[in-house]
Amino acid sequence: MQYKFIDLFAGIGGFRKGFEDAGFKCVFTSEINPQCQQVYETNFGDKPFGDITKINPTDIPNFDILLGGFPCQPFSISGKKMGFEDTRGTLFFDICQIIDTKQPNVVVLENVKHLIHHDKGRTFKVILKALMDLGYNVTHKILNAKDFGLPQNRERIFIIATKKHYFDFAKLKKKKKVILRDFLDTEGNFEFIDKSEYTLIDTPKNQESGLIFVGYRNKNIWQKGVRENTEHLSRVHRQPNRIYSIDGTHPTIPSQETAGRFFIYIPELDTVRKLTINECYKIMGFQPNFIKHSNIGEQYKQIGNSVAIPVIRAIAESINEQKLLIDEPQRQVVGDLQALLFAY
Ligand SMILES: C[S@@+](CC[C@H](N)C(=O)[O-])C[C@H]1O[C@@H](n2cnc3c(N)ncnc32)[C@H](O)[C@@H]1O
Repeated sequence: MQYKFIDLFAGIGGFRKGFEDAGFKCVFTSEINPQCQQVYETNFGDKPFGDITKINPTDIPNFDILLGGFPCQPFSISGKKMGFEDTRGTLFFDICQIIDTKQPNVVVLENVKHLIHHDKGRTFKVILKALMDLGYNVTHKILNAKDFGLPQNRERIFIIATKKHYFDFAKLKKKKKVILRDFLDTEGNFEFIDKSEYTLIDTPKNQESGLIFVGYRNKNIWQKGVRENTEHLSRVHRQPNRIYSIDGTHPTIPSQETAGRFFIYIPELDTVRKLTINECYKIMGFQPNFIKHSNIGEQYKQIGNSVAIPVIRAIAESINEQKLLIDEPQRQVVGDLQALLFAY
């Protein structure tokens, strides 16, 4: 039996690819951004439905799993209950309405790690409580792309709500560590930067995250490139200036970056070059046959907003292995019954 899923806040389809690779079938998609819709349709053949707030849940075909990497918004809680009714006016409320109407067996939500601390932890609490109120067992964990066969330090929070027993994150199949070197293009028009534009530190620093910090771009160079309206972002997001070795992992590909200012150090050549856009897609788990948007700025934005496909695939496979969709009586229950029978 092929289980069905719906792909909400679909972006360019990272969730869809991971679940399809694990044997699941997509029956409905929602994505509001026309640029993402275009790329999604080119690659998957389905034009996503637009704004999720305009969907009548009863119009959605039946499905087993709801997937959504939803935007993080503050809730203004008026009531004391903090149930899903209290999230009215947010996109999370729309997700809850679909869950309430369609009663899927499994819900997988993804977000930035910061969601846990958003609004002093209230947002996260409301999300968990709302899912519990809808009748689900809810677990969550921060997963890192570098534990799933990608050379990227990308941490994201995953919330998994199930009708049956809890999803067990400990059962996820992790992969052995890889380094950026193994994912680099061997030929292409590489953009090397001049030695006068960066400074290498004397001793490279191996960080716990797997990054190997080797130097930084000189301040007068990167300051020139600060973009407007990015003042509220961290310095690294405003203008990435740190340089890491290809013998470690790469930092998170951020969604705000539209010029791809990611610089990598190649020890044997003693040079620094920009990570190419193809390499960016590769370290998110996208295959070379994935058709990107025609505009390079859009390509960077879309990949930064996406999910690391192997992490999603591992979750999809584990949902199957943990038998979270099968309607037969659980083994554990049979075991318990036997124990009861033997007791008398
Ligand atoms: C963080 S991204 C998720 C990307 C996706 N997980 C991927 O792999 O590419 C959130 C997405 O939600 C979409 N979105 C925001 N508001 C929406 C709405 N009202 N209806 C449908 N999609 C929406 C955005 O356009 C964006 O692509």
